[in-house]
Amino acid sequence: MCGIVGYVGQNNAVPVVIQGLQRLEYRGYDSCGIAMMNSEGLNLEKVTGKVMELQGLLAQKKNSTSLAIGHTRWATHGPPTFDNAHPHVSQDGKIALVHNGIIENYKVLRDELENDGYQFRSETDTEVIVGLISKCYHGNLEHAVREALSYVVGAYGLAIVHADEPEKIVCTRKGAPLILAMGENEYFVASDVAAILHYSKDVIYLDNEEIGVLTPEGIETYSVADEPVVKKIHKITFNLEEIEKGGYEHFMLKEIFSQPQTIYDAMRGRLLPEEGNAHLGGIEHMIGSILHADQRYFTACGTSWHAGLIGEMMFEQFARLPCEVEYASEFRYREPLVDAKSIVFAISQSGETADTLAAIQEAKNRDATVLGICNVVGSSIARETEAGVYVHAGPEIGVASTKAFTSQVTVLSLLTLKLARLMGMSESDGLEIADAMQRLPENVEWVLKQADQIAEIAKLYADASNFLYLGRGVNFPVALEGALKLKEISYIHAEGYPAAEMKHGPIALIDKSMPIVAIAPQDKTYDKILSNIEEVKARHGRVIALATRGDERIKDIADHVLYVPPALSFTAPILNVIPLQLLSYYVAVERGCNVDQPRNLAKSVTVE
Ligand code: AGP
Repeated sequence: MCGIVGYVGQNNAVPVVIQGLQRLEYRGYDSCGIAMMNSEGLNLEKVTGKVMELQGLLAQKKNSTSLAIGHTRWATHGPPTFDNAHPHVSQDGKIALVHNGIIENYKVLRDELENDGYQFRSETDTEVIVGLISKCYHGNLEHAVREALSYVVGAYGLAIVHADEPEKIVCTRKGAPLILAMGENEYFVASDVAAILHYSKDVIYLDNEEIGVLTPEGIETYSVADEPVVKKIHKITFNLEEIEKGGYEHFMLKEIFSQPQTIYDAMRGRLLPEEGNAHLGGIEHMIGSILHADQRYFTACGTSWHAGLIGEMMFEQFARLPCEVEYASEFRYREPLVDAKSIVFAISQSGETADTLAAIQEAKNRDATVLGICNVVGSSIARETEAGVYVHAGPEIGVASTKAFTSQVTVLSLLTLKLARLMGMSESDGLEIADAMQRLPENVEWVLKQADQIAEIAKLYADASNFLYLGRGVNFPVALEGALKLKEISYIHAEGYPAAEMKHGPIALIDKSMPIVAIAPQDKTYDKILSNIEEVKARHGRVIALATRGDERIKDIADHVLYVPPALSFTAPILNVIPLQLLSYYVAVERGCNVDQPRNLAKSVTVE
């Protein structure tokens, strides 16, 4: 959610931290700040607004230091003001701290500290940690941090410095992401690898409550019990180009256009076209447990939850295996019927979503086997699950998820194929599905060629206040996803509905100002959807139809038709969602919205 970057080494820390914060702006972006250590002690600069403004301020002052910590904030407690921006500094001015997460018992802690005479400057939950560390400090920062955090309930990723130990950054995390990285005689801490990729690809993932101490001499790590621990160094496999725009106007557009490749990457080495089957190395040893489980659940949030809905439909239709889909935020609190004979799949792009992590913990507490379907390698969800499959979409920077969604659905399709074959799907059906999946990248290319036409349609509808998206079967979750994309980046109210449900209520909303996006492929419900479109037209609604290439009939009733190649219901959701991603993108551009960093949203929601 918020972004953290810290540096200690031989070079000037300021440009390193500023560049890192700029790379993290997609995570949280209402204010930012930096704490720099120099011979006189701590020097602090903060602004409300973008990192570019902080950069300008620092350039005027020509700051230089070999140790600094910085932060971009996504407000939770208190509005985006100067005082609420991080870093937060202790009352004596010696400790500075940046935090990502939420402190649940901050009110009690704040009252206690205030009773002791501590004066707070901000409305944030974070400031209580500074107060506590200050109270616990007796000459060793890491010891003070450990003691202070023993009073804290909540989630945190933290980087902390003390003016009396000017060459040290102390870092720790619990339920929020934090990585450490090493370069040549320089060391980094960040909430996301994107922040430091320019300098290092050798990273350490801290486990919950472990402490990392960064000095110019290196990184030391300590366990919860304060014992030194030797941590594995992981090599990051993606490149800087993958987190840059590469000539596209926005990351979102780049990510939409990268889908032929990312879908291919999700299938590479896994789809077995000659056998009409699939092989998923990471969970191959769990396939028996998935087949024989008493209950199967998908749990996730937002777009990943939509992927779960598609997974459920595919599991049931093709593998004939019942399963349930749960919002992760609800799963935790509704006493789910989960036990040792249950399999729970957690789906997440970031692998850091707090609600999904909490659902995983709930499932584990009930002895279920939890498997992950994740994009970010080494993320908390990847590490908290027993086994899993990476979707290999590469870094997704645009806040609105696009390529990660189609990669999640690709992986779920592969898993369904594998299970379906074991449950009796014939070889010829398996071969037909595998062939359709293999042709997905070229078919996605074909869909993307309609971007200009979609941009023209977007111009006509950019002033709408409401949209309704209709779809049936596997295209109902696609309708939900299309509506979510539009809401997120253009701020137009949009709803997804099963097409036939329209007449049970939403039809009341339809008039000439209401655009309807109707997903109407030539499948078994085609005639029914045409009737739904007729119902809309009879009430003067305007219809953008998504239809199968070659369908001339639909042209007579819809106002606009977007075509996709003919598809099996196995591959239809992936092809159908792409025009909807493009439609929301172009509507948002037309409305002048900040596509990659929509208001109020953050890329990974690390608070519950
Ligand atoms: C997607 O466009 C959203 N920004 C959001 O709904 C997202 O899918 C959700 O927060 C879950 O994130 P995750 O996949 O990283 O767990």
